[in-house]
Amino acid sequence: MTVKTVTTTPIEGQKPGTSGLRAKTRVFMQPGYLENFVQSIFDAVGPVAGKTLVVGGDGRFFNRRAIQTILKMAAANGAARAVVGREGLLSTPAASAVIRHLRTDGGLILSASHNPGGEDGDFGLKYNIPAGGPAPEGVTGAIHANTLKITEYRILEAGDVDLSALGESRLGGMAVEVIDPVAIYADLMRSLFDFDAIRAHFAAGFRMRFDAMHAVTGPYARAILEGELGAPAGTVINAAPLPDFGGGHPDPNPVYAADLMAEMFGPDAPDLGAASDGDGDRNMIVGRGAYVTPSDSLAVLAANIHLAPGYSGGITGIARSMPTSRAADRVAARLGVPSYETPTGWKFFGTLLDAGRATICGEESAGTGSNHVREKDGLWAVLLWLNIMAATGRSVAEILADHWAAHGRDYYSRHDYEGVDKAAAEGLMDDLRARLASLPGSEIEGLTITEADDFAYTDPVDGSVATSQGIRLIFGDTARAVFRLSGTGTVGATLRVYLERFEPDPARQGEEPQAALAPVIAAAHTLAGIRTRLGREA
Ligand code: G1P
Ligand code: ZN
Repeated sequence: MTVKTVTTTPIEGQKPGTSGLRAKTRVFMQPGYLENFVQSIFDAVGPVAGKTLVVGGDGRFFNRRAIQTILKMAAANGAARAVVGREGLLSTPAASAVIRHLRTDGGLILSASHNPGGEDGDFGLKYNIPAGGPAPEGVTGAIHANTLKITEYRILEAGDVDLSALGESRLGGMAVEVIDPVAIYADLMRSLFDFDAIRAHFAAGFRMRFDAMHAVTGPYARAILEGELGAPAGTVINAAPLPDFGGGHPDPNPVYAADLMAEMFGPDAPDLGAASDGDGDRNMIVGRGAYVTPSDSLAVLAANIHLAPGYSGGITGIARSMPTSRAADRVAARLGVPSYETPTGWKFFGTLLDAGRATICGEESAGTGSNHVREKDGLWAVLLWLNIMAATGRSVAEILADHWAAHGRDYYSRHDYEGVDKAAAEGLMDDLRARLASLPGSEIEGLTITEADDFAYTDPVDGSVATSQGIRLIFGDTARAVFRLSGTGTVGATLRVYLERFEPDPARQGEEPQAALAPVIAAAHTLAGIRTRLGREA
């Protein structure tokens, strides 16, 4: 086996976004594309010589071939050891758990998360640091800089590694260890939650449906929910990970998990419905006839997390991404712990978790997690809901109603304008930005703007600064509208408009969210001129 040094030239567009590099699968499959990016990672975090790296992905099309390339490049760059999930599978939270548990030097996670997979879908790759979390901006910046000046990459000329059987083999000078993708993660969950109480709850007739959306969480959910916690076989559906996710869009929300929503709002619905995304870091929670917004889920979990044995000592703080509703802040205030508002993307939570300033964190985009790993964790959130339901005996609808009665309700919705013209979307943002200074004090749709800014964040732990993270229009404590352009899309631009309105009166907390948000929606449209600028009604 010989190490080959291949001459290459920079490829445009290899700039990591909100969560690593994402591109069309066919783009990733172009000769040199993956190789350039992997060598750029190795050069940014290197020397790789002597290191142990975790490698795994969500099983989407090109996952296996990409892993073989990465392993040969790691060996050629002198890595001592690679730890790989069987069949190349590792959910994103499990990869984080493995990186931390085995005290490795980080890992490469292959996924485009909730974006569709397949040859005509999307692919992605990101590097996670030894703490287990996504590389911070400094590292992703260095990776990007390397992609702009790369001249060669190194790869071992060797046959493929067999990833189907557990155990160790060699690839040149590097050891390759194939591990059970579930075991380390399942041990961690067992250490956090009251599995006995959840098991008893299932035994007493509690029913749930978990939709794995043909993505990576299937094997984890089967092993833990059905295998260990005694949920009846068939509780987990769409459990086999498929390269194209069965042609679906593995994003756990009411639109893409429509079947689950129909079941949960239909006759004889189970007590709890849940789903997770392509790589297993997102979650959706829905009770019988009661959908839980991710912002509410974060708040409810934070308020009740002490019921899980792993968190019985309480929490040190709560972090939420800026567009996530302010419901979590109300819980933090009630508990007397700090709350943090960070830019969108899980990488901004890492320093707060490492420093012990926050225990739980979340994003409105169906992401919740805690200091147990450094990624959001879909199944963790589901298990925490199960733990809370088992401990209290309350239904999802009752837990929500109790929470709103105690803290007030933050009606919430996000409107996405997908695949719009990039220049038009940027124009809309630029125009809003130019008017920010003049907006405070103005009244619109019966709401008064108290603050308007382009969100900037100074990390309280390491002092790093992130600017231009989205436009916030704040209407006191009453309402808020936020505008952001997506950083994960692969075609055109996506404008995200985040809307929320606070309702403290329990008698008025039962409205349909779009109706309750009508004035905020109208204000957002008027102020940004969405229809005229984007030519979209919806
Ligand atoms: C989206 C979500 C963001 C999340 C990211 C990765 O990013 O909005 O909260 O961290 O996916 O899952 P966006 O497309 O908005 O940049
Ligand atoms: Zn994901």
